[in-house]
Amino acid sequence: MQKKIAVLAGDGIGPEIMRQALKVLRYLNLDLQIEEGLVGGAAYQVFGHPLPKKTLDMVSTCDAILFGAVGDWQYDALPRELRPEQAILGLRKAFGLYANLRPAVCYSALASSSTLKPELISNLNLLIIRELTGDVYFGTPRGLRPSPDGEFPGAQEGFDTMRYSQPEIARIAHTAFKAARLRKNQLTSVDKANVLESSGLWRSVMSEIALQYPDVALNHIYVDNAAMQLVKNPRSFDVIVTGNLFGDILSDLASMLTGSIGMLPSASLNQHSFGLYEPIHGSAPDIANKNIANPLATILSMALMFRYSLAMDEVAVRIEKAVNQVLAKNIRTVDINNTAHPSVSTEEMGDAVVAHL
Ligand code: IPM
Ligand code: MG
Repeated sequence: MQKKIAVLAGDGIGPEIMRQALKVLRYLNLDLQIEEGLVGGAAYQVFGHPLPKKTLDMVSTCDAILFGAVGDWQYDALPRELRPEQAILGLRKAFGLYANLRPAVCYSALASSSTLKPELISNLNLLIIRELTGDVYFGTPRGLRPSPDGEFPGAQEGFDTMRYSQPEIARIAHTAFKAARLRKNQLTSVDKANVLESSGLWRSVMSEIALQYPDVALNHIYVDNAAMQLVKNPRSFDVIVTGNLFGDILSDLASMLTGSIGMLPSASLNQHSFGLYEPIHGSAPDIANKNIANPLATILSMALMFRYSLAMDEVAVRIEKAVNQVLAKNIRTVDINNTAHPSVSTEEMGDAVVAHL
């Protein structure tokens, strides 16, 4: 049966980077159906909600979601449940996309674009696996209230609940151990077990599941130490598995090791390999509509879609090869341009990838 892709471009630079991914997709001329829908601020403008039912219904009939980015300062004053970010959180929850894969690969042509010394990051290739539907992101209760106790009783306080259940940890553990098996059989679990109850459980479940994967070496480190080691010696890691909040922070950190946040794709999967594919950078409203944003993370996210949701690995490889060749030819958008050549525009980068397919 013909596969169907939901394309949700969103806000800020979302539409312009998505146009480049679609250009690549059209050139590939595959037997796929594409449905476009509104999310984020763009959906709020039309439907008064960042994740309208119309979009959700459309997505439910698809095999994968290709997602741009959401968010814009103009929505900052809206109540939290109407802000653009709720679209991405809502999609993660609605489709149970608990496994977020964020590969951080340093293309050799870009080693000198990183703020770290090239000798520390050349050939860096690590995979962050972030749990995506639990933790303090979704834990209840949460809210605002007069403080019931503590140093300032009665004062206004904001509170959230960091929580993980045993099965939630176990399923992401299996994802991580399986991913480690396909790489170097080395897995680092990141937590804050010296302080947090949820992390204490995280650590013990990881160790328990490890018994089923005796061929994979598991080590545990605290998140503060992980942040330090990622900057100090990033190549000491291969696969990292961590919770939602720590993964959010560490994956941004890891992206900069590779030279630019504009390069990193991600896949968010449920147990049926239905997935949402998005660049890890945000909507970057400050550079929107200037035709300078880097579309490569979106194009590489599309490659992941072919790999994980559509079982078309050969197409993924073809796209990744084309991106590599473009970079090797010093074709760069401004965010990754460490060469003497002038930077290319968003459109030109899309064209260059097509030309190298
Ligand atoms: C990410 C983003 C999101 C997150 C935001 C937009 C809700 O930062 O995908 O990393 O925090 O998960
Ligand atoms: Mg983030």
